[in-house]
Parts: sequence; C-alpha cells; structure tokens
Amino acid sequence: MSRVLLEWIAGIEGDASLREPMRLRERLVALDRLELHAQSSGDADLLARAEVLRADLEEINRRLYTALRQSIREGQNAFAPWIDALEVRPEGDGYDYRDDLVSGALALDEPDDVAPLPPEMVFYQPTPARHIFELIRRAALGERDVVMDLGSGLGIVPMLVATATAARAVGVEREAAYVYAARRCAQNLGVVRASFECRDAREADFSAATLFYLYTPFTGEVMRAVLDAIRREASRRPLRMATFGPCTKMIAAESWLCAEGEVDMEGLALFRAG
Ligand SMILES: C[S@@+](CC[C@H](N)C(=O)[O-])C[C@H]1O[C@@H](n2cnc3c(N)ncnc32)[C@H](O)[C@@H]1O
Repeated sequence: MSRVLLEWIAGIEGDASLREPMRLRERLVALDRLELHAQSSGDADLLARAEVLRADLEEINRRLYTALRQSIREGQNAFAPWIDALEVRPEGDGYDYRDDLVSGALALDEPDDVAPLPPEMVFYQPTPARHIFELIRRAALGERDVVMDLGSGLGIVPMLVATATAARAVGVEREAAYVYAARRCAQNLGVVRASFECRDAREADFSAATLFYLYTPFTGEVMRAVLDAIRREASRRPLRMATFGPCTKMIAAESWLCAEGEVDMEGLALFRAG
C-alpha cells in the first residue's frame, strides 16, 4: 500500500497540470485521496510529503477563489469558463467540485442559529451549482429579466444569476439569518444586481419578476397559494418558471404552464406561462 501511495504522491508532486487553476476537480479528488490514505499509512515520511502536497494544493484553490472574488468585484462574469465547460445536461442531483468552486468564491458563512420551519416549508439546501449554471445557459437572461428565487436560502442562485448574466435577481427568504448572510455576500462582492427580501413567499411582490425559480421550497397548501399568485401574474404578462427537485412534478402538471424542452424530473426544468 505504502509503495503504491508513494508512487502516486510522486506523480502528483511532479504533475504541473494539477497546478492550473481550472483543474479544480482533479485537485479536489487528489485532496480527498490524500486525506483518506496518507493518514492511515502510518509512514512518517509519506505523511510529511502528503502534508506538504495538501498545503500546496489547498493554497492553489485559495488563490483561485481569491481571483474569482476579485473578478466578481470588477464586474466580470467570473464563472464563465465553468459555465461554458458545462455538459449539455448535467447528470444527477448530488453536489460536485462546482459547489466547492461557488462556495469558495462567494465565501458564504452559513448561520447555525436558524428557527425550525412550520409544516409544508422545506429546510435550506442549496441547488447544486451545475444546475444553476444550466439555468444560466438555458434561460438566456437579458437586462430586462428579473429572476426571483422563492425561498432563496443563502442566496447562491441570485448571486450567480447577477454575476453571470445582465439580469437582476431577487431572493425571497423567510429566515432572517439567511437573508443577512446573502446581503453581506452581495455587499462584500459589490454585486448590486442581487437583492434579498426577508418575507414569506406568499407575501412577496411578484410584479417585477420575469422568471421564478423554485428549488422545492415548500409543498402542499403553501405551494398551491404561491402557484396561484404566480398564475395571476401570468394572466397579465409573459413569464417563465424554472424548477429543481420534487416540486417539478407538481409544477409540470399545471395546465397554464408549457414546458420549454423535455421536463427533466432529476435536473432543471423550464416552463413558460401561456
Ligand atoms: C430547498 S431550499 C432552496 C434554497 C435556494 N433556493 C437554492 O436553491 O439554493 C428552501 C428554502 O426555502 C425557504 N422557505 C421555506 N418556506 C418558505 C416560505 N414560505 N417563504 C420563503 N422562504 C421559504 C427555506 O428557509 C429554505 O431556505
């Protein structure tokens, strides 16, 4: 085991391509493996080399996140290379290296003191970044668009939309601690086209939104009330919806919505009203 590990570590030490910023996925795989195997090998020399390597790779990641933050502050679409590199339809609903990328760049601090939710309201879990990248690619958002994320949690969707497109993005979230964290993030990075409102989605003003995003924030009667309110908006003007997670099934059955493309129950789904 030690010999195989030693050879692998020597390979990683000599692999200059692993130091290229875009090779984040490969670095994270190497870091996972270092953590998993080197610690358990019991070989002091190997452990020391693994430690140097780990610090080296983590420093490259830190520099990548700092560069991304700087580029966001300069108003650039910092995530463009990762969005452009996205497969046509990203598979599965789990998290991957793009979530490390986004949370590293946005430097979000997750509050641990959040109130329990009433029935039919779903606890915070972020949309996997690759599905947000897919939304950005497929929705072709322009400066007239206003994306409203209902139940926005820490605000990753509005932050990425406002960073990567010309649209405005509004997060509506009932948990104040999440709203403060999201506002802090937008302020730190100078992202003025993302804003966050602390309120129940049933009480939000929908009049400016052109695209509603829902990652299953609620179910049952709460979802019914919000969908009815969006439907009333849709009777006045064209609008779109994007969904992710179990709520897609319920929303796909709404007769006033037409799917844009095939409805992917596992991934992102896009709908148009009317
Ligand atoms: C599954 S998370 C989605 C987070 C975010 N939209 C994302 O995709 O990264 C659901 C969020 O909805 C919020 N939420 C639940 N019920 C709500 C309601 N009635 N009004 C506003 N926010 C609500 C929760 O606090 C939680 O942060």
